[in-house]
Amino acid sequence: MIREWDAATYDSLPLPHLRWGRRTLERLPLTGAETVLEAGCGTGRDTEALLELLPRGRVIAVDGSARMLDRLRDRLADRLDRVDMHQADLTRPLPITGADAAFSVATFHWIHEHDTLFANIARALRPGAPFVADCGGHGNVARVRAALAKVTGEEPQTWNFAGAEETRRRLEAAGFTDVEVALVPDPARLEAGEQFESYLTTVVLGAQLDRLPAAEHRDFVRAVAAELPEPVVDYVRLEFSARRAGS
Ligand SMILES: C[S@@+](CC[C@H](N)C(=O)[O-])C[C@H]1O[C@@H](n2cnc3c(N)ncnc32)[C@H](O)[C@@H]1O
Repeated sequence: MIREWDAATYDSLPLPHLRWGRRTLERLPLTGAETVLEAGCGTGRDTEALLELLPRGRVIAVDGSARMLDRLRDRLADRLDRVDMHQADLTRPLPITGADAAFSVATFHWIHEHDTLFANIARALRPGAPFVADCGGHGNVARVRAALAKVTGEEPQTWNFAGAEETRRRLEAAGFTDVEVALVPDPARLEAGEQFESYLTTVVLGAQLDRLPAAEHRDFVRAVAAELPEPVVDYVRLEFSARRAGS
């Protein structure tokens, strides 16, 4: 499901996404002349880093959120001649073919239909193209989920924290080979109080807050934070690399 994000607050936070982005980029083999599809580019932090690695190449930046893309447009205003931006739902067929590589950070756990997602990305790539990604995986934010369940009385259904083996199977079924998948625990510690609450509000609990009146957001976030033993988000990353079959 596509939802909007508070892009300005998102960029102001000490995001562990920065290291996830760097780590994922390190796994992407590039010569510098490729056209790279970035799936869920957000505000363009990794798009900017990708452009540095692609002096003769381009980025096709796809995201569902208009506000995130507005921020990307501002950030990369002087380099937009090398960026094709698409506001699009990754679960719908993408208007892209022949890309040389695909890259994604912290996006796929927001999407339930991974079979459709991987098939759409495979169709956007040329044969042999690498695909590297990071997202929340099995066991991700288990303590936050437990805190949420305590506050709301129900299990959160928002995310899709897939396991390693099911992801391998899905990638192979979608036409990828040379699949490598790992689950990597990587907790993020925030400052207690305002910073932690702002982080939970903007990065973690947006989908739950969308269902509540704005006047109730602060109390809801504080109730969830109060159920956590420390200001830590217990992330477990699903990291994978694969290659589009064919040559
Ligand atoms: C946590 S942000 C990550 C953004 C960026 N990759 C980063 O690391 O900062 C998740 C992004 O995924 C996008 N997203 C989630 N579901 C999507 C979908 N079905 N289609 C397109 N974009 C989606 C959101 O709009 C958001 O920008």
